[in-house]
Amino acid sequence: MIIEKLRFEVNGLTYTIRSAIETDARDLSALRLKIDGETENMDRERGEAFIDVPEFEQVINMDTKMERNLFLVAEVDDRIVGYSRCEGTYLTRFSHKVEFGVCVLKEFWGYGMGNNLLKESISWADSNEIKKITLNVTETNDKAIQLYRKYGFEIEGILKNDKRLSDNKYYNTVLMGRLKEGKN
Ligand SMILES: CC(C)(COP(=O)(O)OP(=O)(O)OC[C@H]1O[C@@H](n2cnc3c(N)ncnc32)[C@H](O)[C@@H]1OP(=O)(O)O)[C@@H](O)C(=O)NCCC(=O)NCCS
Repeated sequence: MIIEKLRFEVNGLTYTIRSAIETDARDLSALRLKIDGETENMDRERGEAFIDVPEFEQVINMDTKMERNLFLVAEVDDRIVGYSRCEGTYLTRFSHKVEFGVCVLKEFWGYGMGNNLLKESISWADSNEIKKITLNVTETNDKAIQLYRKYGFEIEGILKNDKRLSDNKYYNTVLMGRLKEGKN
């Protein structure tokens, strides 16, 4: 699905949040690779499970068409610096649910992009019959967990020793969910 373009000004930085379009595929492929190399809070090390340009085009086209998918990008002066996705499923029994993911280039952390990408995704979900948003997050990612709690996500489960990071230690994954008020 697509939403209307929105403009934000935070801490002196102006940016827009809009739905991804097919011609963003090249930038998104490069951005995803870069962000994966900047933080251990994503699932992949840099270069793992690489999504190339045609594959990103497919994802964007699918997200544009599907009622339960939403792909947003945050853009500063025509440069995409962050993105989020809500991904639904074809399965009827899970059709009330979407999975959320978000990432922002380190250089642009702290400008409210995480907040605004999540806020717009929730607003879209709430007005489109989506009853539940789920996500998973590494236990040490305090900033993200705090952000999710702020928008009503609760911890629903823990996957023990789910990830092994570069310090060779094991970390839990936290499963979080947000139910729309009035579940039925
Ligand atoms: C998590 C992430 C998406 C947040 O994006 P962001 O654009 O920096 O988010 P915001 O600017 O909206 O800030 C979110 C909160 O973190 C706080 N914050 C931002 N930068 C911070 C910093 N450097 N130090 C401490 N707190 C910080 C903000 O104050 C804000 O709190 P508030 O909502 O109470 O105001 C971003 O850090 C990121 O992409 N991280 C790597 C990937 C990742 O962890 N994705 C989530 C996986 S589940």
